Amino acid sequence: MAKLDIQSLRNRVERINTLPTIPSVLKKLLGVIENPRVSLSEISDFISNDPALATKVLKMVNSPIYGFPGRISSVNQAVILLGLNVVKGLLLGVSVFDLMQKSMIGLWEHSIGCAVVARIIAKKKQFKEPEEVSAGGLLHDIGKVILILQFPDDYQKAMNEAAKSDKTIAVAEKDFFAANHTSAGAWVAQKWSFPRNLTDMIECHHKPHLAKNAPFQTAVVHLSDVLLRGRGFGFAGDSKVPRLTLLPGKNYNSAKKTSRTFSASPRMPWR
Ligand SMILES: [Fe+2]
Ligand SMILES: [Fe+2]
Repeated sequence: MAKLDIQSLRNRVERINTLPTIPSVLKKLLGVIENPRVSLSEISDFISNDPALATKVLKMVNSPIYGFPGRISSVNQAVILLGLNVVKGLLLGVSVFDLMQKSMIGLWEHSIGCAVVARIIAKKKQFKEPEEVSAGGLLHDIGKVILILQFPDDYQKAMNEAAKSDKTIAVAEKDFFAANHTSAGAWVAQKWSFPRNLTDMIECHHKPHLAKNAPFQTAVVHLSDVLLRGRGFGFAGDSKVPRLTLLPGKNYNSAKKTSRTFSASPRMPWR
């Protein structure tokens, strides 16, 4: 397919809800999430009314990703504990990643791994909301999911290009698309009224120094992404390890220590 200009690409990306592969529950869910005035109880009712979705949400909140293993037994409790912003990310996580499990298992592993590592680092660094950083880790590459769903052939070509050259997938994407997965992710994040911090983590996870609202959370997602790639866990579209970008003027002694701890560890902490 001829390369679309950036506005046409954005229109296609934003029309993700109209794809035949998107199940009706995700379509309805996006409708709920797009409403910026949606309340906690409306979200809770929406989840509870769909037993399959409720089960997935409970599984997810009780998994190591969110750090309440085996402790949350109801959707209401989950929503109150995690808060609206995290629940929005979690709902998109369980639904969008449902689409991925069959065809994009490597990307799914990469995203789950990134969520776990990001939460561990955020907790260690005593971030106020480690769950928010975890949601950022889970969804940081959502732009790839959308590009793959909307343009499977071109995305395959981009992956082939990354495999046979020294380009990372983020660079190879630019050969076939007017923008890469970080922009695609940011467009849907804005369309779905994601919280600004989450949008930052999606848009700037390769360039955390550009994050305006959540530079530290974004830096943690960036670090987790690089660590996961260095470890060869999952598959994010290429087998390269991108360079770690540091925030100018910040003290990274502790970040370096965390990095060493992970690389010295013989196994990932959730295995
Ligand atoms: Fe990425
Ligand atoms: Fe990634």
